[in-house]
Amino acid sequence: MTQAIAERRATPSFDGTPIPPEDLRHIIDAGLHAPSGYNMQPWRFVVVQSPEQKRRLRSASYNQAKVEEASAVIVACGDADGWRKDLDLMLQLGREGGMPESYAAQARTSVSNFLSGFSSGEMHGWLNKHVMIAFTHMLLMAEVLGYDTAPMEGFEQEKVHEVLRLPMSYWVVALLGIGHLKGPDKYNGGRFEMNHTVFGEEYGKPLRAF
Ligand SMILES: Cc1cc2nc3c(=O)[nH]c(=O)nc-3n(C[C@H](O)[C@H](O)[C@H](O)COP(=O)(O)O)c2cc1C
Repeated sequence: MTQAIAERRATPSFDGTPIPPEDLRHIIDAGLHAPSGYNMQPWRFVVVQSPEQKRRLRSASYNQAKVEEASAVIVACGDADGWRKDLDLMLQLGREGGMPESYAAQARTSVSNFLSGFSSGEMHGWLNKHVMIAFTHMLLMAEVLGYDTAPMEGFEQEKVHEVLRLPMSYWVVALLGIGHLKGPDKYNGGRFEMNHTVFGEEYGKPLRAF
């Protein structure tokens, strides 16, 4: 995993060789194991592999060639209405795993109170947060399995909706291209020094843990 993280690059171009279904399953499973607030799992994924759909998705993604070249593109979405339908299922699963009744009763009220008051912008923020955790689980699992990956935010929301025939309540968060690198890898853009982005105890103080 350390190597996968250190050596991962946002892949510029893919060779298009298909992904065996069992590898795709591992990658998707990794995403579905991600944590989420109240375990509401508001993510939804559309896996695009057919040449025709990849071509159409490319035209909804500012013509980025890697959308069509990737072996699979996982379109990561959030469902703004998912919690309404899934609350009972989440509680049932939780009870099967040992969730205390007192927690279940409290969660039923809190989830409704918390989410029903969200503005559309707040809901998109909440969905982005959760979908990207699952997305990152998938990206890292793909890298560990030896694939190259390309996260993408360059797409048009309405056009992707149209191509994938998504329900109105869906919010497209990001695209994940998976496959094998074709040609030279991208340069390494580097990262800011730790003291630029990480603080210890309070803002502005350096972390002295090392
Ligand atoms: C959420 C997200 C969206 C991105 N969208 C695009 C994109 O649409 N097109 C693209 O070529 N690269 C995209 N990238 C790749 C970034 O440009 C890349 O991750 C960044 O330059 C750092 O390079 P590295 O990932 O190779 O370290 C995206 C990355 C992330 C995390």
